[in-house]
Amino acid sequence: MEFSAFSKEAAQNASKYDWKNFQNETVKRLFEKISSLGFSAVNDTEKLRLISNLEASLTNMYSTGKVCNIPGESTCLELEPGFKDTGEYWRSWYEVPTFESDVRNLYNELSELYQHLHYYVRQKLRNKYNADVFPATGHLPAHLLGNMWAQQWNNIYDLVIPYPSAGRVNITKAMLDKGYNITYMYQVAEDFFKSIGLQPMPERFWTESMLEKPADRDVVCHASAWDFYNKQDFRIKQCTSITEDQLMTVHHEMGHVIYFLEYMNQPIIFRRGANPGFHEGMADIVTLSFQTPEHLFKLGLVDSVPGPNDTDADINFLLRMALEKVAFLPFGYLIDQWRWSVFKGETTPNKYNQKWWELRCEIQGISPPVNLYRDEEYFDPGAKYHIPGNTPYIRYFVSYILQFMWHKSLCDVAGHTGPLHRCDIYQNRAAGEKLREMLQLGSSKHWSEALFTVTGSRTMSAAPLIEYFQPLLQWLKKQNGNADVSWNKACPQNEPPSSAAIIKISVSLTFISLIFVFLF
Ligand SMILES: *[C@@H]1O[C@H](CO)[C@@H](O)[C@H](O)[C@H]1NC(C)=O
Ligand SMILES: *[C@@H]1O[C@H](CO)[C@@H](O)[C@H](O)[C@H]1NC(C)=O
Ligand SMILES: [Zn+2]
Repeated sequence: MEFSAFSKEAAQNASKYDWKNFQNETVKRLFEKISSLGFSAVNDTEKLRLISNLEASLTNMYSTGKVCNIPGESTCLELEPGFKDTGEYWRSWYEVPTFESDVRNLYNELSELYQHLHYYVRQKLRNKYNADVFPATGHLPAHLLGNMWAQQWNNIYDLVIPYPSAGRVNITKAMLDKGYNITYMYQVAEDFFKSIGLQPMPERFWTESMLEKPADRDVVCHASAWDFYNKQDFRIKQCTSITEDQLMTVHHEMGHVIYFLEYMNQPIIFRRGANPGFHEGMADIVTLSFQTPEHLFKLGLVDSVPGPNDTDADINFLLRMALEKVAFLPFGYLIDQWRWSVFKGETTPNKYNQKWWELRCEIQGISPPVNLYRDEEYFDPGAKYHIPGNTPYIRYFVSYILQFMWHKSLCDVAGHTGPLHRCDIYQNRAAGEKLREMLQLGSSKHWSEALFTVTGSRTMSAAPLIEYFQPLLQWLKKQNGNADVSWNKACPQNEPPSSAAIIKISVSLTFISLIFVFLF
């Protein structure tokens, strides 16, 4: 209404001039536009108000309108879908509007377990190294955990093993003693999948895959699995060596291929995981069975299975699994916390490194490995492949939640009794059939439906992971006594070197304070 009144006044003023006979074309054009009033020319203010209100409410209806009740869609769709930033696009693959808060809630449920593991490992390492190199803030220096990114800590298992006398057999050595070769490692993995009724690797898998590092050329050795989308050609590329770790990776990559094979009859668009976490979770699922003493015994890689009352061996086993699986949770969670915040523009380029360490210190309880002030001269996030590689990361966190949910449900189907961490679904066709039902869907249904086929639940839950590690959590609580197992949110304060401090201060202070600094 105000705009209309203003336009009318301007048009009236313009009419005082004989602008139609102006010589300057630009000024003439200006007057022409000022005089052309459209709706504003309406003199009846009631009518004018009606027009304005109608226009506003129609615009509002359009912009907030949603299309609902679409078959196969659990949410309503907007008329003009679009993403505010790349993070929103990446999160859209999970097809739930609450995804961000869902993963935060899952992480919060798991943090007690992580904190107790963190505190236990810190005490062990303090006993091993000089205690005063550990920051008083309760953080763990990142370089002591046996991994470039401090993301999985299984490499320091021997430094933190709870019961050294009940130590675990060296599986790599057992593999070499049994004459394992590379082909055989893939046959062992294939045998597991076949034993639960899933498909064998097709003929061409064996002839076309690159399972060994070629001698005649440089290759990318990072293990990967490939679907050529022609229903015949599926391959793994891996520079396999004969170690326990690599045997797990063989199972992981073959798990991806099994998923490819099971959904290959879907239309191309649906030939992918139900969400990105599904593929990684599926790839890991067999490794949970495989690593049980029961299974390693069946393969002849260990001589005996710990008895039901051998809690020492059980705790050793669970702690080793926790160094791999539980230690990873905060890391898997925080990488995209950083990236989403960057994509949203909340973290600006002059705060990239600061934000990175805020998350590492707060969520992971890790402090920088060197006693340096990690300012913006450094770009520490760039040291993790997925950041420069632009690969979304929350899928790995999601996959850890899913693999324990599936493991529990499949163990129930298999009729497993006893603790979850001792379940091996090897040779159980009923479990395999259940899994297959989910895999065959590909992404043709919302992931909550795919999840439902195996677990009977449509939402993600941290409970099975917590159940799996429950005996360890009880044990850790006992070890940690009544100690406060948390750490400070903020990083330990490493004072910047004094000359740098003066430069920093001088940049940010006014001229008068600058003189003040030099005077003193
Ligand atoms: C690999 O190991 C398997 C099982 O021990 C054996 O049958 C096969 O001959 C071996 N292959 C090679 C190339 O050594
Ligand atoms: C394990 O311990 C329980 C209770 O402590 C006992 O009843 C059972 O006989 C033990 N089993 C074995 C195999 O030693
Ligand atoms: Zn993978």
